[in-house]
Amino acid sequence: MSNNYYITTPIYYPSAKPHMGHAYSSIIADFFARFKRIQGCNVFFLTGTDEHGQKIQRAAEKKNMDPLIFCDEISKTFKDLSKTLNLSNTDFIRTTETRHKKSVSNLWNILEKKKEIYLSKYSGWYSVSDEAFYSEDEIENVDGKKVSKLSGSAVEWVEEESYFFKLSKWQKPLLKFYEENPDFILPESRKNEVLSFVKSGLKDLSVSRKSFSWGIKVPSNKDHVIYVWLDALTNYISALNYPDENDDLYKNFWPATLHLIGKDILRFHAVYWPAFLLAANIKPPKRIYGHGWILSGDEKMSKSKGNILDPIEIINTYGLDPLRYYLIKEVSFGNDGNISKEKLENCINSDLANNYGNLCQRVISFNEKNSNLEIPKKDNFTESDLKVLNTFKSNYDNLINYIDNQNINSYVSFILDQLFAANKYFNDEEPWNKKDDVNRLNTIQYVSFELIRKITIMLYPIIPESSLKVLKIFGINENKIDFKSIKDNDYLKSKTKISKINILFKKIETND
Ligand code: ME8
Ligand code: MG
Repeated sequence: MSNNYYITTPIYYPSAKPHMGHAYSSIIADFFARFKRIQGCNVFFLTGTDEHGQKIQRAAEKKNMDPLIFCDEISKTFKDLSKTLNLSNTDFIRTTETRHKKSVSNLWNILEKKKEIYLSKYSGWYSVSDEAFYSEDEIENVDGKKVSKLSGSAVEWVEEESYFFKLSKWQKPLLKFYEENPDFILPESRKNEVLSFVKSGLKDLSVSRKSFSWGIKVPSNKDHVIYVWLDALTNYISALNYPDENDDLYKNFWPATLHLIGKDILRFHAVYWPAFLLAANIKPPKRIYGHGWILSGDEKMSKSKGNILDPIEIINTYGLDPLRYYLIKEVSFGNDGNISKEKLENCINSDLANNYGNLCQRVISFNEKNSNLEIPKKDNFTESDLKVLNTFKSNYDNLINYIDNQNINSYVSFILDQLFAANKYFNDEEPWNKKDDVNRLNTIQYVSFELIRKITIMLYPIIPESSLKVLKIFGINENKIDFKSIKDNDYLKSKTKISKINILFKKIETND
């Protein structure tokens, strides 16, 4: 098994500032990236902005701005957000960068040379909001307007000369590819969607536009710009310095381990992208995971609907780690999730403040009173000690599998079970009644510290900043975190000094 792990988020349209949906994808991707790093993998984590096309051109025109200056401004807010979200991304790509344009032109030339692209004329429906072509049976009339049945976005009629990619030719090879790679598209329900779309017959895909100019020019015909999705998808390899196939980044990280996306852009990633790559004789990525939507009320949160929750506001009120924890824990991964301040406050109070924060505080305070802020010397473990300690070891392989199968909720619920067990252990063992059995008093503390250490390592990918504060009391800094060490029961050295910590999570006053 290769030790390299390449994870990507979608590259977002800088047509308006980022919202909670974008924050969600990015936080989930960061969770995987951080986990794989502490597992010892060599991780490349990419995010960025998708800056060409009619949608951006129009958004810039509306503000009377040059499209590049417009993109510079909004792309920066996405880049800033990645800092605010404490993302550990390796790179941030913008499709207006030279390295990317070079890569896209190269891919185009290969496809043209292989006769996978031909010049013809497109007449049909186009949604600028989705940057997608829709067939007649994907369109419906709503309030006298033509909209896409899939996304609800308005469509307009387009008739122009256009280059086409021979997508129809790739129907069979794609079906064969899905069959040979049964986990290429997850979750299962998304895979079925894609299969039925591909089985219903693929038409050749228009891959250039002539009626506007904001894009990468077709190398052999400057009247055309390359279809923004062919341009955008290529970011996943241009960031690895494709077409330089001897480049270490490309050699180490392609094919990508995981393209994490929302279900809205499944067709582009699970059908068009592997088809382009197969046609160019490049390996497709290993997995596309299409997560659900963050809903506002029961509608998708989106810029065009104007019902967005601002992640910055939430972070300013509640802090970043609570938001990260909430999005990772409360949304059933793969499905849509409705988010609310009430549920967020509940999460902070019960899981973070009461369960986790309190466990850390009470064990440290007890230690301060009884053992002078020092890891005590342990005696032999009893059966009840071993029971709580060994769960980590016995579930170790399962935990890795959860992550490799994007089973986030099982990973989190394991942590919650262990938090509960650790609190119960401390209560049941009653160290405060063991003043005349120093060995036992010390061992209970030792076990409790080990439990805190293990749980905190597991929490690190979810709430990195808070976890690092706790790990610091044991002298464990970020680059020393080793996921394997959750299997050790005697990692902590007795007699080492520990430090106190401030309150990790403040309880929120609620009305009930
Ligand atoms: O589609 N819930 O960019 P985009 C959950 N540029 N996730 C959401 C969401 C919501 N309500 N709203 C957005 C594009 N997202 C293209 C992508 S990739 C080569 C090009 C997330 O700005 C989710 O990941 O519309 C979704 O797929 C993505 O943002 C779409 O962002
Ligand atoms: Mg969108």
